[in-house]
Amino acid sequence: MNATPPIEYDRIAELYDRYVTADHDLPFFVAALPLARGGEVVELTAGTGRLSIPLIEAGARLTCVDLSPKMLDILRRKLVARDLDAEILCRNVCRLDLPSRYALALMPCQAFMEIVDEAGQRATLRSVFACLEPGGHFICTLHNPTVRRQQVDGTLRAVGAFPSYDGTLVVSGAEVGGDPIVVRSQFFESFGLDGGLRWKRLLPMRFAFIDPDAFEEMATTAGFRVVALMGDYAGGPFRPESSPVMIWTLERPG
Ligand SMILES: C[S@@+](CC[C@H](N)C(=O)[O-])C[C@H]1O[C@@H](n2cnc3c(N)ncnc32)[C@H](O)[C@@H]1O
Repeated sequence: MNATPPIEYDRIAELYDRYVTADHDLPFFVAALPLARGGEVVELTAGTGRLSIPLIEAGARLTCVDLSPKMLDILRRKLVARDLDAEILCRNVCRLDLPSRYALALMPCQAFMEIVDEAGQRATLRSVFACLEPGGHFICTLHNPTVRRQQVDGTLRAVGAFPSYDGTLVVSGAEVGGDPIVVRSQFFESFGLDGGLRWKRLLPMRFAFIDPDAFEEMATTAGFRVVALMGDYAGGPFRPESSPVMIWTLERPG
């Protein structure tokens, strides 16, 4: 099982919010909050709080868990700046041992795939099961391997160019492997206002493809009941050949 995560987010924590600007999944997670029936919610792999802040603003009583102290420092600063409150815990999701029981656990952004070994994946599912109240739900998102695999071809692809007051951050990445571990080299280049390159950084990343049948077997072995499998953040059904993601809703039976 991993002692350290395969991606060192501490190294790019101060850059994360500049290049991860998506919010297409936010309405889905806000709409899922009633599953908590007013109880406590734990967001696993919360990072810098891309989703945490709007979830708290939507009324969630939230505990935010992540393994990266620097990502959590940024989340803490955002909470203070907005006068919002959440419990923040620096933990590995493979061994949570949380102080409360939760009505709803969320693991967004396909972060489950960053647990690249099967023992760690199984331990995470057991660990999330243990922190839920009976009748509690776990929403876990993964990429659909069939679709996501098409980008694993060694081609350097742009993530985007992200301008700010003092220059532009350019992010790109190339991926190889996929059986099941994908090795991604993600490049960060910072250009000044004059267009000159100021610095470059490389972040090695790894994630694992997990087939739907394998995930379902691991989840049910951990004790979960599968409530739903969606294939996009609009709530459409999962179609193995074309859905971009798998959004699993699991229940700890009451
Ligand atoms: C892609 S980021 C997503 C952050 C945030 N949820 C978002 O949507 O922007 C993945 C996050 O998962 C965290 N993470 C990865 N493996 C983890 C583990 N085993 N335990 C806890 N956090 C982990 C990383 O530190 C990182 O902050």
